Amino acid sequence: MAIEIVHTSAPLGHEVRGVDLAGPIDGATFAEIESAYDRFGTIVFRDQSLTPDQQIAFSRRFGPLDRYVLDRYNHRTWPDIFVISNIIGDDGEPIGMSDAGRYWHTDMWLTHTPPRGSILYALEVPVQNGEPLGDTYFASTGEAYDALPADLRARLDDTQAVFSKRKYFEFRARTNKDIDKPSGQASQQALADLGDEDIVHSIVRRHPRTGRKCLYLCEGVISRLIGWDEAESDAMIAFLERHATSPQFVYRHRWRAGDLVMWDNCACIHRATGDFELPLRRHMHRTTLANTAGAAA
Ligand code: SIN
Repeated sequence: MAIEIVHTSAPLGHEVRGVDLAGPIDGATFAEIESAYDRFGTIVFRDQSLTPDQQIAFSRRFGPLDRYVLDRYNHRTWPDIFVISNIIGDDGEPIGMSDAGRYWHTDMWLTHTPPRGSILYALEVPVQNGEPLGDTYFASTGEAYDALPADLRARLDDTQAVFSKRKYFEFRARTNKDIDKPSGQASQQALADLGDEDIVHSIVRRHPRTGRKCLYLCEGVISRLIGWDEAESDAMIAFLERHATSPQFVYRHRWRAGDLVMWDNCACIHRATGDFELPLRRHMHRTTLANTAGAAA
């Protein structure tokens, strides 16, 4: 089966056509999909119809899976699936995390070995007046790195950054519009329960499969660049966050039910908009690909 790639005008977010992910997918077709994923960092499949078992089986073709750090949002029957949803279940409890990822980030930066990437499948998408809501934005961190002056790239190559959970909680409390709702409070508490120790990551990561250098950033989370003067560090963090999300590096995904989008945590950062409320429902299933290349990769 030969796949077709339909390019967007952005560096990422290209659509892969001609494959039914419910499978079976032959080895040659899978190799083309994996190559597109590595090259572009975010790829899109439309019009899919996947059971949880089929999504998990497709995800496992890429290697072992990670489970989302907040176990309470993992599916009760398929714990490899992290449920992102604003739906309240029959028991009165949210069926998933309602406010996931509403800031520029890479998934699970609050672990020492963040995953290779994620695969998000849309079961229900909020629509108002014929327009989908709840878009997700993706920014190419490889393009953003390449666009920096050579002397700055060289300096950043050797720089490590402190990612602060405490700063993240404060940032969420200030910026997340769901923070005062029971679901927002619950996810804030679940995050707080993970502890508040700092995590150190290199600000530039070399992609373990393509060798491409990429910026590694999370909005509102980095407290300092180690070894940099404080004022210079603050200014550089603010600059890099702005620079990496400049429009020329960004793809905006407008969801339809049946879309499956997969992104690479090294090659891009992403942000969910969360511009919808019940009774408009959003229901997504995410699988997470483990990083088998090590912490610094
Ligand atoms: C995420 O995984 O960060 C959430 C993305 C989304 O819900 O659009």
